[in-house]
Amino acid sequence: MKLDRNNRKQSGLRHKLRGGGASALLVLAVAGIGEASAAAASAPEILRSKCGTCHLENGALQRIGNLRKSPEGWDMTIARMGVWHKVEVSRDERKALVKYLADRQGLAPEESAPYRYLLERRPNAQDVVPNEEFAQMCGRCHSFGRVALQRRDAGEWQKLVHTHLGQFPSIEYSALGRDRNWRELALGQTAPQLAEHYPLRSAAWKDWQARQASKPAGAAGSWRVVGNRPGWGDYAGTMRVTARGGDRYDVDYEFAYAAGSRVSGRGEAILYTGYEWRGDATLGNQPVRSVFALSKDGSRLAGRWFLRNATEIGASFEAVRDEAKQRGRILAVQPALLKAGGPATVSVHGVRLGKDVDLGPGIRVLAAEQVSPHEVKLQLDVAADAAAGWRAVRAGAGRGEGRVAVYSRIDSVRVEPPFAYARHGGGTTTPESAQFEAIAYLDGADGKPGTDDDTRLGAVPASWTVDNFDDKAKAAEDAKFAGIMAPHGQFIPAFAGPNPARKGLNNVGDLSVVASVRDGERTLDAGGRLMVVVQRWNTPPLR
Ligand code: HEC
Ligand code: HEC
Repeated sequence: MKLDRNNRKQSGLRHKLRGGGASALLVLAVAGIGEASAAAASAPEILRSKCGTCHLENGALQRIGNLRKSPEGWDMTIARMGVWHKVEVSRDERKALVKYLADRQGLAPEESAPYRYLLERRPNAQDVVPNEEFAQMCGRCHSFGRVALQRRDAGEWQKLVHTHLGQFPSIEYSALGRDRNWRELALGQTAPQLAEHYPLRSAAWKDWQARQASKPAGAAGSWRVVGNRPGWGDYAGTMRVTARGGDRYDVDYEFAYAAGSRVSGRGEAILYTGYEWRGDATLGNQPVRSVFALSKDGSRLAGRWFLRNATEIGASFEAVRDEAKQRGRILAVQPALLKAGGPATVSVHGVRLGKDVDLGPGIRVLAAEQVSPHEVKLQLDVAADAAAGWRAVRAGAGRGEGRVAVYSRIDSVRVEPPFAYARHGGGTTTPESAQFEAIAYLDGADGKPGTDDDTRLGAVPASWTVDNFDDKAKAAEDAKFAGIMAPHGQFIPAFAGPNPARKGLNNVGDLSVVASVRDGERTLDAGGRLMVVVQRWNTPPLR
């Protein structure tokens, strides 16, 4: 076939993919929103004129028409067309194509749901793979999530295998692939199985398309927001979303952190496929990107926002519409951890709340202050014998529920993530830090820490230190060279490259991370592990 021939001819270009040029191209376009609206109407023309030269056969766009992908997936493929096949598309054309293709050939909300960690760029996330064969065949060079965020028939999965073989001939023996007949397995077994797990046609996609055609929800309106930024704590606030047409929005944010600081922001967003929100904003003075999913009925928007230049630093985000019918809906109680046997002050955040909030037996409301229609501040008295663990918090006349956890003593602490990595920066690459949290636990009925019946209470303040993980790290003094731990649990890695003070070793390190938590008179310690490793050169949106 014509394309396969091209593919082979172009395989000499593969080294470019690993160079800096490719990564610069790859990170750009999805959330980078500009004036694409004028070009948007002409996406079919762009497909015809720019893509058709190679893809058009008998009036149909070969390859392009038989796939479904996330917005990032489409963006990466179009970037690849530029890097591998020298296809020249402008920034605006690329954005218009991503919008057009993601809308018509995207994933249904259920289909992308298990892989949102990848779209949201969650650091240290555990890849989700349905079986060991997929993990070994397709999850060793990149995440398996990259695969599972696409939909194809068996023939198209096979073509993708051919693309891999053509572009990376060493695939048959790299990444522990030489213990099997990789090509035969990939074509004969993996591709058909992928088509079963991730088929081009699905009921979910059909339903979603029908729903979009009849009543697309859109994201415009006023929203109440709550979230948590590891290392900074809980926040709450508002988001105002104004439609600009063509699924594009102007967005204003007002957030207040429970710890005291306030931050406002302004930016833009695009809704792909009817629910995939991708935004760009300046929050405070920091450029941030948001990756949210709109719920099917359009009532909830949730996901993660992160710093554009340091995607590992970000926050969870959950928003519901600020509407009369949402009256009395609690979104979050901050702080949610209450120590038994004393006074406490909490803020209840939600939609149109009154002062009557019920926190259940053993927690008395001494005073209630209406801060705004959406926030009530409560002075509480928590009885010494109030039942430990999580409980519901109800707003008097409302429907929604919040939660608080009561404890009289913390039984144990765990470091999250228990195993993390940080990457050096320097030269053209930014460092990748690692944010840790100390999470308090109750032992549960069995009275033992680390078992299934433990109750996870949540993040508590801690003091942080790092040390050499083992004798090898000690001999090389890793803890001295790999970087520094900031007071709020964020590890900042050192610079890349050989360090003369280490006899030519670079600044990599294998460290243990220790959190010390004070609970009354006691100090509880917990440990984690941190690998400080070399730079990442290629940073595509889906790793
Ligand atoms: C110069 C020829 C050429 C042009 C022009 C071209 N492509 Fe491709 N395209 C290829 C080749 C060769 C392949 C197969 C190898 C590969 O996937 O890179 C391919 C594969 C694809 C695939 C399938 C990749 C997959 O997911 O497995 C898609 C989708 C695609 N192209 C989209 C586009 C779009 C959109 C454009 C226009 C912006 C475009 N192509 C322009 C040569 C071209
Ligand atoms: C030897 C390493 C390696 C293995 C094994 C591997 N891939 Fe890839 N894959 C790559 C590289 C490299 C890229 C493209 C470059 C990039 O984005 O970093 C890629 C890209 C992709 C893409 C995005 C391509 C597009 O245009 O949409 C998908 C999907 C994918 N691989 C699926 C698979 C599947 C399915 C398997 C198993 C059959 C697999 N990969 C096995 C290295 C590998």
